[in-house]
Amino acid sequence: SEAVEPPKVDWSSNGIFGTYDRASLQRGFQVYREVCSACHGMNRLSYRDLAALGYSEGEIKAIAASYMITDGPNEEGEMFERAGRPSDRFKNPYPNENAAKSVNNGALPADLSLIAKARKGGPDYIHAILTGYAEAPEGTTLLPGQHWNTYMPGHIIAMPAPLIDGQVAYEDGTNQTVDQYAKDVAHFLEWAAEPKMEVRKQTGLKAFLFLLVFTGVAYAVKRKIWSSVH
Ligand code: HEM
Repeated sequence: SEAVEPPKVDWSSNGIFGTYDRASLQRGFQVYREVCSACHGMNRLSYRDLAALGYSEGEIKAIAASYMITDGPNEEGEMFERAGRPSDRFKNPYPNENAAKSVNNGALPADLSLIAKARKGGPDYIHAILTGYAEAPEGTTLLPGQHWNTYMPGHIIAMPAPLIDGQVAYEDGTNQTVDQYAKDVAHFLEWAAEPKMEVRKQTGLKAFLFLLVFTGVAYAVKRKIWSSVH
């Protein structure tokens, strides 16, 4: 059946003056870390990239060190585990795609690094998927491991509803609801897929203003040069 359009969220990143909301990005990372990272990797990010969210060097070192990373081989030819460093990529939940599929009923939880660019609707779509779980309509039988989602193209999704109210403890007093978690993590995934969005928009704006002023000057000069020709 047809895909349902995701509802439009009023993101701070929308429009030509759009910017990311750092507090929301940090909460979104917390949701990713505590919930989504059990199944989804974000292989294109390194822990040090989190500096853009406003974390200090010390905080980033602590976040990285909370993961055990497989490294090696060492001089004895053996792989070994060590604490993560800021330069490490985000740890993957599975060693490879087959391992990922085997514990998800054959479905692959996509790497989320670029998902906000890869799916039509971007953060609106991600927010919609996370809030779009519902009872399957009468007459639809779901197989084990299948779930009904209003916004998934085809409606049948292998991901079980990952969020419930109160699941992630926010420290800044923000509402601990599925809707808020979905907004924060979708915002975080939008940042991950386009960390330089703010610079891009500011550069575009500067180029536009320059051209506007330049056009005015060129017009004034043209009028002056041609003013004696009748
Ligand atoms: C699919 C996001 C948590 C397993 C997806 C998709 C997104 C997503 C955007 C893609 C849907 C599409 O293909 O268009 C998230 C976020 C999570 C989260 C933001 C945390 C809030 C989880 C967890 C699991 C999981 C905890 C495992 C228990 C899967 C699987 C799929 C999937 C197996 C493939 C679904 C299919 O192809 O039918 N997820 N996910 N996800 N996710 Fe998650």
